Parts: sequence; C-alpha cells; structure tokens
Amino acid sequence: MTAQLNREELKKKREKYLFPSVKQMYTDPPHFVKGKMQYLYDETGREYLDMFAGIVTVSVGHCNPKVLAKTVEQVQTLQHTSTVFMTQPMVDLAEKLANIAPGNLSKSFITNSGTEANEAAIKVARVSSGRNEVIALRHSYHGESHLASTLTANHHYRPEIMPAAGIVHAANAYCYRCPFQKTPDSCNMECVQDLERTIQMQTSGKPAVFIAEPIQGVGGTITPPDDYFIQVKKVLEQYGVLMIADEVQTGVGRTGTHWFGIQSYGVTPDLITMAKGLGNGLPIGAVITTPEIADKAAKQQINTFGGNPVSAATGCAVLDVIEEENLMANAKEVGGYIKAGMEDLQKHFPDLIGDVRGKGLMLGMEIADKKKNPLSAETAKIVEMAKDDGVVIGKGGVFGNVIRIKPAMNITKDNADQLLKVMKKALEATAKVGAAAK
Ligand SMILES: Cc1ncc(COP(=O)(O)O)c(C=O)c1O
Repeated sequence: MTAQLNREELKKKREKYLFPSVKQMYTDPPHFVKGKMQYLYDETGREYLDMFAGIVTVSVGHCNPKVLAKTVEQVQTLQHTSTVFMTQPMVDLAEKLANIAPGNLSKSFITNSGTEANEAAIKVARVSSGRNEVIALRHSYHGESHLASTLTANHHYRPEIMPAAGIVHAANAYCYRCPFQKTPDSCNMECVQDLERTIQMQTSGKPAVFIAEPIQGVGGTITPPDDYFIQVKKVLEQYGVLMIADEVQTGVGRTGTHWFGIQSYGVTPDLITMAKGLGNGLPIGAVITTPEIADKAAKQQINTFGGNPVSAATGCAVLDVIEEENLMANAKEVGGYIKAGMEDLQKHFPDLIGDVRGKGLMLGMEIADKKKNPLSAETAKIVEMAKDDGVVIGKGGVFGNVIRIKPAMNITKDNADQLLKVMKKALEATAKVGAAAK
C-alpha cells in the first residue's frame, strides 16, 4: 500500500498533479482517510460529523456494513462484463427501480453518474419525440458534460467553450428572490407564465423536453411552492413537451415522504434521472421512463461500466436498507427537527439568515442581510468554522451564500443537536465580527 501522506504533502501533490479546476471547499482542508456511517476521520484520527455526505451521496452512511457486504460479495464474484452481456444485478436494480418509480415509469438505462443519466434522458426524450429543443431552469445544475453544463444555469459551471445548441432557460420558482419581485401570496405563478412565454418566444413552440430538479441542489436548495410543478405540467402538456425530473440529489427518499422528490408535488414526470444516493458512494446513475418512450429509442446504446454488477448490486442493497430501516421516515423526522432548529436560529440572527428551506434531509439556509444582500464571504467562514468544530456542512447557490445540510438519511437527533450547536457558535462569531465592523 502507498505510504500515507501528511496533509501538507498531499496538498502540494494535489496542486502538482490534478487540474486546477478540481477545487476544494475549505481554505484549510482536512485529509480524510476513513468514513464510518455519518462520521469522517482525518489522518490524525479526529472525528467529523458529516452533514453533507460527500455532496448528497452517502445516503445510508459511509461504509454501511449491510451495503458493503453486498458490494464486497459482488466484487469477489463478478465485477465486470459490460452491457452487451447478460448479468443479473443490473436487471435486479432495474426491476427495483420500476417498483419504486411513480406511474408507468418502468424501463431503465443504467449509467455511471448523474451527468450521464441526464445525457441519456435528453437523448431518449429527443429521439422518442422527434423534437430537439430543451428547456431548463435558471439556477439549475445538471452535470459537467458539454450538454449537461449547458443545461446548467449557473455561471460557475457553464461551459467556457461554445455551449451546446438547442437549450433555453426559464425563470425558476425562487420565492425568496423572486425573479419578478413578487410574493407567493399574490404572484399568480409568474414563473409558470414565464415558462409558457419561453416556449412561445425562445423555441419553435415544439420543444422536446423540460428538465428540472424538484429542489435545486447546487443552486442552493431552492424549493418551489407546493403547486408549482402541477402548474408547470399543465403548460408542458398543452405544448406536448415531455418532463424530466432530475432527482440526482432529491432521489431515493431524501425528501422524506416519497422515493422521489417530484412525487411530493403530486406530479408524475415522463422521465426521472438519479445517481448519487443510489450508489452510496459507488459510481452509478439511472434514467427511468415509460415503455412507450424507451421503446421508441431502440438504437443500440452501450455503456461499458453502466449497470456493472458491483454498482448495480450496491444500488439494490442501498434501496433495501432505506426500505428495511425506514430511513425515509427518519429523513422526515430528523430533517423536520433540524429545519425547526434552523428557523429558531433565524429568529436569533435575522441579520444573517435570510431564508430557511427544503424538505426532509435536503435543507438550506441562505446567509443574507435584512436587505437580502448575499453574505458570501461570511458563509465561507461559517462553513470553515463548523469544520474546525468537527462538523462538515455544504455550501452552494450562485452567490455561494447558502448553507446546505444533506447528510446520510440515518443520522440521529443527537447529531442534529451537535450540528445546530456548532452552527449557532459560528453564527455568533460571524455576528460579532459584523457588529465590530459597523
Ligand atoms: C441535480 C444534479 N444533477 C446532475 C448532477 C451531476 O451528477 P454527477 O456529478 O454524478 O455527474 C448533479 C451533481 O451534483 C446534480 O446535483
């Protein structure tokens, strides 16, 4: 085994051998060497409570023993054949996905990542509809390939080269910063009207597909109002446009009430993409759709590693653990507890916390002053201070001012208390600096 480098050596080699685009979140990053359920450990043995789960991925805990047993068993039995050969784990996973997906979504294409799942979804939607144009939402994140980064509407991640063709963006439902300066009680869903205007004015009137995250993750846990997607679906149906729910973050139960976040809005999309939490850290992704759509796109599609026995067996084990241990209910309960705690913090720090939002264990807290000016530098400091106090939290949003809490779904209320205590301390320190500067 390669000798373990100390933090400074690792930092230097990382800079020397990796693309500079592979940035890290912390100014002073720990060197993580071990993970166990909701905890991470650095090379000195220090424990960290992980409330970001490897960017919303470790859905049932680091090295979850039940999942790991299935992964190891599969690695030791058959690791790889590719999609052109017949193996069972990929079919088992596809069957499980058909059983948990809403409506008539029952045919899957298994990939290695969320980006690939979105690529595959857009392709099948275009081929099956015979149309080309795609509509996505502002503030979205859909992945890092050329197509997926063009679907993305966040300048930090959009392509620096010529974007992919045929993609337009409509306003999102961002009530805290309404693009139309309206309020939810009297807005008459201006954002849905904008979607229709986008179809009428920025497409041929016959776009192929609309793609949206049920809660925008990288965008800063932007959570649309309850009836948003029902209204969106009506517009899409009027123009014959298919709908993809990008559930790469919201999928597999994280939002606490359904397997997929879009179900909590009472809508069944035509396609669902997923990744991250399905593999608990192993590379995996999937798109599931109806037989009618899948069967119209029957030209051979190979994905060398997609649906490989190890990732597929792991995906099956993850879904079993979520079901057997009732983790959706835990996400709802502990998530609700954290959200209430964050709302309490908002009352204590009204000049620092502009908005608290999200569902289940997909939560966000927007750091902004009373005039809604984003406090980006302060957010970075809060995230760093929390880490120094042993809690890993995430950060996102176009302005980098949203704290993201998206831990493994089996965290406890004690973990929640630890998180809230550490956040309070960091907010107090931030408020003091702010007061001193005035
Ligand atoms: C909503 C959403 N879609 C797609 C992706 C891309 O997934 P991956 O990084 O697995 O390619 C991400 C990644 O963060 C995501 O959050």
